[in-house]
Amino acid sequence: MNFKETLTARQQEAEAAVIRWLPAETGHQKLIFQAMNYSVLAGGKRLRPVLMKEVYRLFGGRGEEIQPFMAAIEMIHTSSLVHDDLPAMDGDEYRRGKHTTWVEYGEDMAILAGDALMIYAFEVAAKAFSMTDQAARVGRAIEILAAKTGIYGMIGGQTVDVELTDCPVSREQLDFIYRLKTGALLEASMVIGAVLAGAGEKEQKEIEEMASDVGMAFQIQDDILDVAGDAQVIGKPVNSDEKNNKTTYVTLYGLEGAKEQVKEYSRRAVEILDRFPSEDVFLRELILSLINRDR
Ligand code: IPE
Ligand code: IPE
Ligand code: MG
Ligand code: MG
Ligand code: MG
Repeated sequence: MNFKETLTARQQEAEAAVIRWLPAETGHQKLIFQAMNYSVLAGGKRLRPVLMKEVYRLFGGRGEEIQPFMAAIEMIHTSSLVHDDLPAMDGDEYRRGKHTTWVEYGEDMAILAGDALMIYAFEVAAKAFSMTDQAARVGRAIEILAAKTGIYGMIGGQTVDVELTDCPVSREQLDFIYRLKTGALLEASMVIGAVLAGAGEKEQKEIEEMASDVGMAFQIQDDILDVAGDAQVIGKPVNSDEKNNKTTYVTLYGLEGAKEQVKEYSRRAVEILDRFPSEDVFLRELILSLINRDR
């Protein structure tokens, strides 16, 4: 299989894991189930669960217990998007090629659906305990998932992002925002893959560093696509950052400068990955393919 075919197969595998634990749309609270499922099933590249599984494979992981974590990380990521799009935050009306959750279900339900996805993710992740005899690894993975989602992770980053909207932002502040709001969930994805497969402390640290660089590259490319992307292809509006008066890598360094940074962070990530010799080049190709992603 070539890279594209492998990617499609991996994305389908991630999709199946995500779908497996989505709630059935019945019961008095079925509206929340519908809003959750709408947000998750709207699409998305499923990059985080794919990366999680690849790192798990890199360290020899073969079990089933990775699957609830693949679902959980995509649910948490989706919850961050549902809240990010709210009128009180970025105020965007399209996501993954569809109306955002608040446009479709109202702000009240979008707030609840974001909360619901974030906490249900942990209910799903905990199912891994009954799928392995390595309970300590599952416990550690849940701790990482919580830490990288919370105040020292994605939510911490979104906080500073929102707080500094309309303000002058330094490179140092911007990097802090990016490492947390976007980097943290990518770090969670890849470090959890390593932990569940039994990688050692030193290896986990290296994977975390690699994932942090992937996160920087990913968010800078997101800034680029916000300016130079095609709304039909990215499935969300362009010029959202300008509308919200956000400082980004594009406003600081221009399009060409930002593109250089994407390459540089990706090169650094691959340099770390190359310390782990592997027959399988897919993960390396995947990280490099993100440099030129158009969605
Ligand atoms: C969008 O993430 C938000 C950022 C962290 C930049 P993705 O580009 O992975 O969005 P989906 O999951 O494919 O919709
Ligand atoms: C958001 O960054 C990162 C999240 C934690 C959701 P953006 O606000 O730039 O993400 P998009 O462009 O709306 O996907
Ligand atoms: Mg935002
Ligand atoms: Mg946004
Ligand atoms: Mg963006």
